[in-house]
Amino acid sequence: MMPNHSIDGYAIVSDNHCIADADGNMPECLKNDADWAYFQAALDAATLTVVGRKGHEANPNHKNRRRLILSRSLAALEQRPDGWWWNPAGQDWANVLQQVAPEGGAIAVPGGRDVFDLFLQPGYTSFHLARAEGAQVPGGTKLFSGLEDKTPEDLLAGHGLQPDPTRWLDQENRISMTIWRRPV
Ligand SMILES: NC(=O)c1ccc[n+]([C@@H]2O[C@H](COP(=O)([O-])OP(=O)(O)OC[C@H]3O[C@@H](n4cnc5c(N)ncnc54)[C@H](OP(=O)(O)O)[C@@H]3O)[C@@H](O)[C@H]2O)c1
Repeated sequence: MMPNHSIDGYAIVSDNHCIADADGNMPECLKNDADWAYFQAALDAATLTVVGRKGHEANPNHKNRRRLILSRSLAALEQRPDGWWWNPAGQDWANVLQQVAPEGGAIAVPGGRDVFDLFLQPGYTSFHLARAEGAQVPGGTKLFSGLEDKTPEDLLAGHGLQPDPTRWLDQENRISMTIWRRPV
């Protein structure tokens, strides 16, 4: 990563660490207005948003933000009318940054799971982890792979991040937020 970029993850998970249900859709229990507003403000402030192809199709880029879409359906990196498309197997991240966001700034990563996995290396600058306290999503997609016997918090700590104190984003609906940061 170039020194003037940050990589910032954003997710909301259930008690069993899921971002999506067993059908791959966002369950109602993970939809919350305060979390959505927090997330949208972060995307507005970011230089670039990095999403998986399915998330891109489910959430078209109505605000015309600069978007990088991951897919294995192309060779390397292409600029298309709906955004930049990237296959990490064909072009490395430093090279992508030079072409897509040379001015630096915040790179927002809203997932899904394989995209969250990918940015564990080179490493998150921060990870904004919202929890829908008390929500269960049976058989859903977890935030990261490799969470069978670990929590996301274990994984983030294992990758060198440290948590700020947890606070409520929406106390009435029991949505908490913990920002994990890489120590400077
Ligand atoms: N709760 C949350 O915070 C949260 C966050 C994110 C998403 N979600 C939910 O999760 C669901 C979608 O997530 P998802 O994980 O199923 O899909 P996704 O990450 O949006 O898209 C998956 C696709 O992205 C591409 N991709 C991912 N990693 C790649 C890599 N390393 N190299 C190349 N291509 C890669 C592949 O596209 P190709 O098939 O084209 O190769 C893959 O099929 C939606 O329901 C969404 O609402 C929830």
